[in-house]
Amino acid sequence: MSIIKNDFEKINITKIKKSKNNKKITVITAYDALFAKLFEDVADIILVGDSLNMSFAGKPDTLSATLEQMIYHTNAVCTGAKDAFVVLDMPFGTYTNEDEALKNAVKVYQETNAAAVKVEGGEDRAHIIKHLTSNSIAVMGHIGLMPQYVRSEGGYKVRGKTKEDIEQLIRDAKALEEAGVFSIVVEGVMGEAAKQITQAVNIPTIGIGAGKDTDGQVLVWSDMLGFFEEFKPKFVRHYLDGATLVKDAVNQYRTDVQDSSFPSKEEEY
Ligand code: KIV
Repeated sequence: MSIIKNDFEKINITKIKKSKNNKKITVITAYDALFAKLFEDVADIILVGDSLNMSFAGKPDTLSATLEQMIYHTNAVCTGAKDAFVVLDMPFGTYTNEDEALKNAVKVYQETNAAAVKVEGGEDRAHIIKHLTSNSIAVMGHIGLMPQYVRSEGGYKVRGKTKEDIEQLIRDAKALEEAGVFSIVVEGVMGEAAKQITQAVNIPTIGIGAGKDTDGQVLVWSDMLGFFEEFKPKFVRHYLDGATLVKDAVNQYRTDVQDSSFPSKEEEY
C-alpha cells in the first residue's frame, strides 16, 4: 500500500521523512503525461529520471540528457499527474558547483511544478547539496552506483562489497543527511551494505538493486513493465510482459487492416 495516498492528502517531504520505519515508499519513473496519470494514484513519488535518455531517447547512457529535456518531460509528467510528488533528476553537468547547481535548480522550480530535484553524489558533493537545501530547494540524494559516473568509473559497478566501501557509503549517506536531503536513492549496492546505510540515517533510503532492507524501492517504468527487451538486470522484476503484449496487439492490428476487418461498420462515421 502506498504511504500517503490512502489519506487523501498530497505528499510532501515531511510525510516522506515520517514514513521511515513506518511504511515503505513506492517510487516509479515516468517521462510523459499518459503514464504519469496511470501511476499517480498508486506510486508515492514519480521520478522523472535521466534514465529517459536511455529508455525514451535510446541513447547508451544518461550523460547526454539536457536540463531543457528534463524540464520538458517534467512538465509533461506534471500535466498528466497533477497531484503527484514529482522529482526531476538533475542531468549530468548541471550541478558541478554551488552557483551552477542553484541557478539550474531555481530554473527547474520556475519552469515546472516539480516538488524536488535529485542529484547524484556523496561526501564529494555534499557542499553543493547544502547550498541547494539552504536556498529552499528540496533535494533527493543518490549514492552507490551512480549512472552519471559511468564514463569516469569505466562502467557500472556494484558497490558495498568491502568493509572500506561500506564505510564510505555510510559516510556518503550521513553527509547527504547533514546537507539536508529528504531521502536518498541507494542504487546498485549489496543488500547488507544497503541495510547498514539505511540504519545509519534518519531519512528514508529508496533502493534500486539494493535489496529489501531500504525504506522504499524505485524502478524504471519500462523495465518493470517489460518494455525494455535488450537485457533484464538481476534486480528488475517484470510485472508485465509489455513488449510481447504490444507486439501482439500491433500484429493483430496489421492482420485486421490487411483482411479489411478493421475498421468495422461500427467504427465508421
Ligand atoms: O534516472 C533514473 O531513472 C534514476 C533511478 C533509476 C533512480 O536515477
